[in-house]
Amino acid sequence: MSSTPQMASSLAVLVFLVCTVVLASGAASVRVGLTRIHYSDPDITASQFVRDALRRDMHRQQSRFGAGTTTTVSSRTRKDLPNGGEYLMTLAIGTPPLPYQAIADTGSDLIWTQCAPCGAQCFQQPAPLYNPASSTTFAVLPCNSSLSMCAGVLAGAPPPPGCACMFNQTYGTGWTAGVQGSETFTFGAGPADQARVPGVAFGCSNASSSDWSGSAGLVGLGRGSLSLVSQLGAGSFSYCLTPFQDTNATSTLLLGPSAALNGSTTGVRSTPFVAGPDRAPMSTYYYLNLTGISLGATALPISPDAFALKADGTGGLIIDSGTTITSLVNAAYQQVRAAVQSVVNLPATDGSDSTGLDLCFALPTPTSAPPAMPSMTLHFDGADMVLPAGSYMISGSGLWCLAMRNHTDGAMSTLGNYQQQNLHILYDVRKETLSFAPATCSDL
Ligand SMILES: *[C@@H]1O[C@H](CO)[C@@H](O)[C@H](O)[C@H]1NC(C)=O
Ligand SMILES: *[C@@H]1O[C@H](CO)[C@@H](O)[C@H](O)[C@H]1NC(C)=O
Ligand SMILES: *[C@@H]1O[C@H](CO)[C@@H](O)[C@H](O)[C@H]1NC(C)=O
Ligand SMILES: *[C@@H]1O[C@H](CO)[C@@H](O)[C@H](O)[C@H]1NC(C)=O
Ligand SMILES: *[C@@H]1O[C@H](CO)[C@@H](O)[C@H](O)[C@H]1NC(C)=O
Ligand SMILES: *[C@@H]1O[C@H](CO)[C@@H](O)[C@H](O)[C@H]1NC(C)=O
Ligand SMILES: *[C@@H]1O[C@H](CO)[C@@H](O)[C@H](O)[C@H]1NC(C)=O
Repeated sequence: MSSTPQMASSLAVLVFLVCTVVLASGAASVRVGLTRIHYSDPDITASQFVRDALRRDMHRQQSRFGAGTTTTVSSRTRKDLPNGGEYLMTLAIGTPPLPYQAIADTGSDLIWTQCAPCGAQCFQQPAPLYNPASSTTFAVLPCNSSLSMCAGVLAGAPPPPGCACMFNQTYGTGWTAGVQGSETFTFGAGPADQARVPGVAFGCSNASSSDWSGSAGLVGLGRGSLSLVSQLGAGSFSYCLTPFQDTNATSTLLLGPSAALNGSTTGVRSTPFVAGPDRAPMSTYYYLNLTGISLGATALPISPDAFALKADGTGGLIIDSGTTITSLVNAAYQQVRAAVQSVVNLPATDGSDSTGLDLCFALPTPTSAPPAMPSMTLHFDGADMVLPAGSYMISGSGLWCLAMRNHTDGAMSTLGNYQQQNLHILYDVRKETLSFAPATCSDL
């Protein structure tokens, strides 16, 4: 990422704040659990969650800065629904700390939660609603702060007295709006892992679209200055997502020095991030250089530039923890689809209506075990990511479906979290590389 001088100076300040926390708590880094919504009928929900995930819009949108002190920032990351495929992190806001769960999302930057008073425009959340008036550490974020989404509107002029930045962040089909604040956040469960970080800029929402149920907001882990990673000056972070169907298992998110791929060095692969366009929302994304895809030993005939990021900011492939189902440009998707179809000896059926996935196979009976299939390899620049069948196929309602979807040629492709299960994935923001290794994530 090419950051502006303004961003760089704000990071320096925040790194200082984090150092204070380290000295105060003795914790060198932050460790948090990621959980998923429990569901009682795994079969119904497997197809339900895919439908939910697909309902989320995939359109990349440009950010639009409005007049005055209101700002609209768009990102193509989407909210999710109760049985959707999101991983939720637990954190706590304010003093005294109020715990809540939020979607962990590497495809956007803003950290936000709902704030009281909240009327009809707020959604039902499982955690008690945070009230800034009950916290001794809440402050409205000054409009001329480098983390203010309205700072650009001021263009260096002094802010009007009492200026507060009203934002409206849109995510494809969803949105959330409110005022930007600053708060003390607490991360991690045990005292050894716990870090209290003052002065974190966040969105205090009092109006949102519906359907964020299951969470009380979102934590952006993108490359922009507003993300948790940037605000902590973490340098690197990693996560390890437990098997998708196992909604009871806790996944792990690590921020800071402990975010290392320890142990086996032989299984670790690394690929550089591709420099993204220096404008929102593309400046948020972690682009990767995907040069090919194989099924088993067969390299698929996909043009090497199918996933290339173009000079105008279109195309490219990003890795995103907040998207469930991988989407590929159609030319590549059709090759994957044909290859998968060629290795499965079952009647193919269009699952669009039941699961939203267009390549499905009918299992002999709803409880039949799916057929054995070779692994799929994503060839990144310098690093092969091997996906066993269970990381690219999904079963539900007696169907065995390719858990990928297509996208208009020339659009951005996204590596979703279903394809990231059972891998420990390290984002080294300083070295600009992504590393990954197969892992039993519940053991981390
Ligand atoms: C913001 O504006 C206030 C009032 O004009 C000023 O005192 C403060 O130094 C400014 N802060 C920054 C970071 O520019
Ligand atoms: C935020 O933006 C969305 C999409 O443009 C719009 O539908 C919604 O009404 C806006 N919300 C507020 C509070 O302005
Ligand atoms: C949200 O808060 C802002 C600023 O206090 C206020 O102008 C707006 O009317 C509130 N919206 C709702 C839906 O309560
Ligand atoms: C997950 O937890 C729920 C509630 O505690 C329980 O009913 C369910 O059986 C568990 N599922 C698995 C796969 O362990
Ligand atoms: C990796 O090793 C370091 C140093 O021993 C340790 O602090 C960290 O917690 C380990 N991380 C993981 C994910 O095991
Ligand atoms: C992507 O990787 C290929 C193969 O290593 C390399 O030739 C190409 O220059 C890379 N593209 C970018 C944008 O880094
Ligand atoms: C996606 O693939 C289906 C069939 O596999 C095709 O009908 C549809 O046109 C494709 N969509 C795009 C955007 O290419």
